[in-house]
Amino acid sequence: MNTADSGQQTAVSDPFDLETLEAALRGSRFAGKLHFFPSIGSTNTCATGQADAGAPDGSVYFADEQTDGRGRGAHTWESAAGAGLYVSVLLRPRLAPTNALWLSLATGLAVQSAVRQVTSLEADLRWPNDLLLGRRKFCGILTELNAENPVSSARVTEMATQIRHAVVGIGINVHQAEFPAELRGIATSLRIETGREWSRQELLVALLQSLENEVMALTEAGERAAQSICRRLEAGSTWIRGKRVRIEERGDGDGGFAGVTEGLDARGFLRVRTPEGMRTVLSGGVREG
Ligand code: BTN
Repeated sequence: MNTADSGQQTAVSDPFDLETLEAALRGSRFAGKLHFFPSIGSTNTCATGQADAGAPDGSVYFADEQTDGRGRGAHTWESAAGAGLYVSVLLRPRLAPTNALWLSLATGLAVQSAVRQVTSLEADLRWPNDLLLGRRKFCGILTELNAENPVSSARVTEMATQIRHAVVGIGINVHQAEFPAELRGIATSLRIETGREWSRQELLVALLQSLENEVMALTEAGERAAQSICRRLEAGSTWIRGKRVRIEERGDGDGGFAGVTEGLDARGFLRVRTPEGMRTVLSGGVREG
């Protein structure tokens, strides 16, 4: 979402209370690892730097404002002070990079569940992990990976690359009262959808609790967790099966291709039936076609 000029009115006061947050997250991997910034460039950039410097699994970086919020595909993410939830979570899961997409998809499900829990809204998930209310996006997720070849593996067959760390960045539009004309058709906020304000702190707690469950399942139950993610996506997203879509794989107006979605493959990639046959979408923009 390129939102240089947001035009939003966000006069609400919705501060975070770190003590209450810590108490709510006691016992989880995030306890004692919350880092709040009144203003920061990008929480994802910060989390990546901290990961390289050795920060532990479960470190959380969140901000009231981002001055250089980043979106997928080199887009920016409008992050005005007090308007949204801007949070990045550093994870060090025992997962192969080939399974990384599950982490990203599971994060989408975690946001969907948190939003349902706090607001009772039923958000749609557009593969891989945009969250929509109606046809407009209110949440985006940017997952950035660092993988390595473990040198300690004794057997060649175990020399598969592992994720060294993953930074999962989540941006939720909460308090925006409006968006500039060029975004009005594609962007929304919880306030616009419900006509009332929601607490970013409550959303953050629900999100982290839900993410904790997803990550635990994924790292402990592997294949079974992936099947569960797949099942829940089929049930909770209108985009996974039977949706006429247009895919722009390079996101540069390359023309892409059109077809009808037909579920996910074994790694979580989107399958699209086209007149020329089945295509697998590895990345890129999925739009209604
Ligand atoms: C998208 O393009 O849909 C992904 C948007 C991700 C935005 C979030 S806000 C918190 C974190 N920090 C960033 O700079 N980006 C992510």
